[in-house]
Amino acid sequence: MLDIATDGRTWLLTGPRSSYALRLTENDELLHLHWGPRITLADAEYLAARQELPYWPFEAPVDGHEEYPVEGGPRFTRPALSVRTEERRGTEWTFQEYEADGDELRLRFLDDGLRITLHYRMRDDVVERWVTLANEGTTVELLRADSATWTLPRREESWRLSQLHGRWAAESRLARGELTYGEKVIGSRRGHTGHQHLPWVALDTDATEEHGEVYGCALGWSGSWRIAVAQLPDARVQITGGAGYDESGLLRLEAGGTFTTPVFAGLWSDGGHGGASRAWHAYQRAYVIPDADRDRPVLFNSWEATEFDISEEQQRALAERAAAIGVELFVVDDGWFGARTSDRAGLGDWTPNPDRFPEGLKPLADQVHALGMQFGIWVEPEMVNPDSELYRAHPDWAQFQPGRKRTELRNQLVLNLARPDVQEYLWEKLDALLSSAPIDYVKWDFNRCFTDAGWPGEEYPQKLWVEHVHAYYALLDRLRAAHPGVAFESCSGGGGRIDLGVMSRTDQVWTSDNTDPLDRLAIQHGFSHIHPARVMAAWVTDSPNNQLNGRVSSLRFRFVSAMAGVLGVGGDLTRWSDEELAEAREWVELYKEIKPVVQRGDLYRLRPPSGGMSAVQYVHGDEVVVLACLQAQHYGEPLPPLRLRGLDPAAIYECRETGELYRGVVLLHHGLRTGLRGDFDAKVVHLRRM
Ligand code: DGJ
Repeated sequence: MLDIATDGRTWLLTGPRSSYALRLTENDELLHLHWGPRITLADAEYLAARQELPYWPFEAPVDGHEEYPVEGGPRFTRPALSVRTEERRGTEWTFQEYEADGDELRLRFLDDGLRITLHYRMRDDVVERWVTLANEGTTVELLRADSATWTLPRREESWRLSQLHGRWAAESRLARGELTYGEKVIGSRRGHTGHQHLPWVALDTDATEEHGEVYGCALGWSGSWRIAVAQLPDARVQITGGAGYDESGLLRLEAGGTFTTPVFAGLWSDGGHGGASRAWHAYQRAYVIPDADRDRPVLFNSWEATEFDISEEQQRALAERAAAIGVELFVVDDGWFGARTSDRAGLGDWTPNPDRFPEGLKPLADQVHALGMQFGIWVEPEMVNPDSELYRAHPDWAQFQPGRKRTELRNQLVLNLARPDVQEYLWEKLDALLSSAPIDYVKWDFNRCFTDAGWPGEEYPQKLWVEHVHAYYALLDRLRAAHPGVAFESCSGGGGRIDLGVMSRTDQVWTSDNTDPLDRLAIQHGFSHIHPARVMAAWVTDSPNNQLNGRVSSLRFRFVSAMAGVLGVGGDLTRWSDEELAEAREWVELYKEIKPVVQRGDLYRLRPPSGGMSAVQYVHGDEVVVLACLQAQHYGEPLPPLRLRGLDPAAIYECRETGELYRGVVLLHHGLRTGLRGDFDAKVVHLRRM
C-alpha cells in the first residue's frame, strides 16, 4: 500500500507488518522518516513536522538523514551517486514529480540533462529500492551509482552487525559483532558475487533468534559490489550498497544512455533473526525465484564420483544406480565436451567430446529418461581455456590488458562477455546444445575471478565489469525463454555466485564445494539467514570425504545434513555396497515425503551448529519436519529435548513414522526427545497435526 500526503511531498509505503516513510523538503532534500512497525500517514506527517536537522559546526545537517546522498554540496557521508562530466563533478538535483503505480513509488529528479529516478516497491514487508539514470545532455561518467541508502532509527544501545563471510569451500558462515564508529565495508572486486561475502547484512541491537527488531539488506547483483555500513559521528547508522567495488567508473552515458541499478532490498522484522529469515524466504519464494511453487527434484551429480575421468558407459552405470535409489534428475558434470579430459583444455568448445560421446549426448539422455529421471549437464560458458578451438580462433575474445600477461587461474581465462560477438557465439552454442538432446537441467559454473579486465580498442573498457553481468543475465533470460522446460543452477566453484540477482533467473544454487556433512551444517546455517531451503543444493557424497578432509561419517548423518535443502547425491554409487544403496533408497524415499515441507515451509533454526546437537525445523500447513544432527555427545549425558516452534499449542501431532502422538503445547514448552547419542548421530522427525 502507498499513501501520499496532500502536499505530495511525504510518502508512506506499508506492508503487512511494516511501514517505510520519506519526505521531500522545500529545498528538494529527500529525507528518511521511518522504517519499522506499521504507521499511518498521519504518523508520518507528524514525524515530518518534527524532524530536526540541527546545525553543528563541522557537520552537515542532512548527513545521516538522506535517502540517497549525492556527491556535492555540504555532505560528508559516503555518496550513493557520484558522477562527472567534462566540466564538473557532483550532482545538484531538482525534484520533478512523483509517480504512484500500485505499490511502486517513483521519485523523479533532474540535474541538467541527467534524469535520476528513485524507485521504491513494497513486496510484503520487503522494500525494493533501485535507481534509474537517463542522460539527455552531455556525456556523463557514472563513477558510482548505488541502489539505495538505508537509514536506521536512533537507538541508545549499540548496533550489532551480522554478515555471511567465507572463502572457497567455506562459504556463508555467520559472523556477528558490535558496530562501532566509522565504516564496515564488504563486497567483491572479483567480477562475480564471490565466496567471501554474501551481499547481505543484518543489524539489530538486542534481537535473539525469535524476538526483537532486525533490519536486513540484500543486494541483487552478480558482479563486483559493495555494501558499506556506516556509523556516523552522531551514532546514526546508514547502509549504502550497489554494483561495483569502488568509484573508478561504472559506465559512461552518452546522450540517450541509461543505467538501471540492481535492486537493493530491505526488510524490517520484529520476529528476531528467525522471523527475518522467514520473511526473506517467503519474499524470495513469492517474488524472486522462478517457479518456486514447483519442488526441486532429488539429483545425482557425477563430479565427486568421476571428476574428469568420464565415459558414456560409466555414466550409464551411475545412472542405473541413481535411478535405483530413487534419484529424479541425473547430472553429468564437467568433462563431457571438447578436449576436456582435465582442467587444462576444452572450455569454450561446447560440443560433446567425440571419443567419450561419439553419438552426442542424446543416447545417454534418452537412457536417463528411460530410467525415469530428468537429464542435466554442466557448462561454464563465460570461460575459455587457451587450449581450445575457441581460443585458437579468437584469442581477442578473452579479457586482457594490452601488452600484459594473461593471468590463467585453473588454466582458464575469462571471456569478454561485453562483446556482442561473444554473446552471440555463446547463445548459438548453448541454444544448439539444448536443442541437440533432451536436456532438462543446466549447472552453470564460473570458476575464476576477473584479473585482467581489459578490452583493447574499446574507448571505455571498464564498462565490461557491468556489461559482463548484464550479458550473463541476458543470456540466461534468452535461454530460459527459448527452452522453458530447462532448469538452471547457479554455481561458481560452489557458492561464489549467490545473490538475489542470480536467484531471479536460476532454479537453485550450488551452496559450496564442501560436501562434508559437518562443515555443511555451519555453511547451511549461515545461508539460511537470507536464502530458503528451496534453492540450497546439498549432496550426500562418499565417506571418507575424498575432496576435503577425509572425515568418516555415517550415511545417516550425511543424509540428514543434506536433507535440509535440495537433496542430491554425489558419491560414487558404483562403489557403494548393496546395504548402502538400500539405505540410501530409504533416505531418498523419506526425503521425497518431506520435500514439500522442507522446500516450501517456514524454517525455524532450533539450535545452531556449535559442537553438540543442532537442529532445524520446517512447518508447512499441518506438517512439521525436524532435522537434528549430533556432532558429539559428552559424558554420556542425555541431550536436552528440542523445544519446537511455530506449532499450534492446542493441537495433537502424530509422528508419521511411529504413529506416536505428541501434544503441541508439550512440544513447544517441554520439547521433543530425539534419542540422539554418541558421535555423528542424526534423526528426521516428521509430524502431522491431527
Ligand atoms: C566447480 C563446481 O563447484 C564443482 O561442483 C564442479 O562442477 C567443478 N567446478 C567442475 O569443474
